[in-house]
Amino acid sequence: MPLSCLVRLLTQILGFTWFLGIASCASVSHQSMPEEGSTELGLLKKKCTICHGLPHPKRHTASEWDNLLIMMTERMNEKNISYTSVEMTQIKSYLQRNAR
Ligand code: HEC
Repeated sequence: MPLSCLVRLLTQILGFTWFLGIASCASVSHQSMPEEGSTELGLLKKKCTICHGLPHPKRHTASEWDNLLIMMTERMNEKNISYTSVEMTQIKSYLQRNAR
């Protein structure tokens, strides 16, 4: 991971995300997303942009997404961000079928 990425992650953790604007390692908003207009992508946009930019499915392999989503649900629990298991299943299947 490049140093600039680490710095951005640290500032995110410290809560300066909004102060710094949209900058985020997970953000690749200039890239077009697969399945534009689908329910699953809609959920990803709604649930996964609260703390950082929209993560592109090609960033990770299917098994990496498995682990990452466990981490992200932990983060969401910490912040009391609500989601249902159905929503998470949809997000996960979207990310995995479009994964690297
Ligand atoms: C409660 C805030 C929060 C929410 C909501 C959240 N994340 Fe994250 N995410 C983080 C933080 C903080 C990091 C930085 C790494 C860390 O400390 O876990 C991160 C990092 C990431 C990364 C970067 C890892 C990398 O190097 O590629 C990806 C991808 C990601 N999140 C995906 C998601 C997805 C998908 C969702 C929706 C299910 C989501 N995030 C929802 C807080 C959140």
